[in-house]
Amino acid sequence: MKGIILAGGEGSRLYPITKCMSKQLLPIYDKPMIYYPLSVLMLSRINEVLIISDSKYIGFYKDLVGDGCHLGMKLEYKAQEQPRGLADAFILGEKFIGEDNVCLILGDNLFYGQNFISKLLKLSSMKKGAVIFGYYVSSPRDFGVVEFDQNNRVISLEEKPEYPKSNYVVPGLYFYDNSVIEKAKNLQPSPRGELEITDLNNAYLKENQLHIELLGRGFAWFDTGSYDGLMNASNFVQTMQKRTGLYISCPEEIAYRNGWIDRSKLAALGREYEKTDYGQYLLTVAGEKEERSRP
Ligand code: TTP
Repeated sequence: MKGIILAGGEGSRLYPITKCMSKQLLPIYDKPMIYYPLSVLMLSRINEVLIISDSKYIGFYKDLVGDGCHLGMKLEYKAQEQPRGLADAFILGEKFIGEDNVCLILGDNLFYGQNFISKLLKLSSMKKGAVIFGYYVSSPRDFGVVEFDQNNRVISLEEKPEYPKSNYVVPGLYFYDNSVIEKAKNLQPSPRGELEITDLNNAYLKENQLHIELLGRGFAWFDTGSYDGLMNASNFVQTMQKRTGLYISCPEEIAYRNGWIDRSKLAALGREYEKTDYGQYLLTVAGEKEERSRP
């Protein structure tokens, strides 16, 4: 399976911060925002990833994560000149996806919770259809909203409805089979001028090929694209990391634990940031500093 990170968009909810800066390069506590979705793909064992962003920012992403070989990955880039919508990812990414299935993650989404990795591993080896997630929120109006029947099967998906049919919304992480490319090409822009991911998911629903995984109330999902989202996610990462001493979404650590880079490579990456807690953490994971045992 291949992975795509959508790191373009207008970023208008964060103006003026994003007037001259790509949203997904902004910090969430101690890391650039894009490390969080990148880590989710890595935890799914996806090591070929396409990063889509506005052409004026692609150079920044290349400076940050390059071709990915330091993580044992292959990263590619594609420019999106206009924010044509989330489903545009599959048209822009057609050549990159090739014959494979694909996982799309939004560049401003943060996921964290128990049993997530086993869910991801199961989904990244799926063969057919589409899998989306459902997450209970207090204000569903700003998202794609799921309607269920009595047997908890999805019967409709609505984008930003005025009268939501449930409190379950669809976070920005989607797994698709290869037919997503053709389905995306057949979409018509919505009244707001975008190729909507909800329309794409509805195309799978019509074929009875849409599956949903519910994320329980112990799970954390943040859309970090607003002032409060940015701040809440930063506070969450800071709190969890300080409390446990374990980092959330540290790509170098995941690459090492996946066996994509060896201990000496991890230590070398740690030494690059030696003056920071981040660098010291990498050195600890690499065994160059004392680590307390944990199960
Ligand atoms: P949104 O947060 O829905 O849109 P946005 O980033 O343009 O922000 P705003 O609403 O503040 O104007 O986008 C979700 C993610 O998808 C985000 O990481 C940006 C990305 N995106 C693209 O890369 N291309 C697009 O065409 C769109 C609509 C979003």
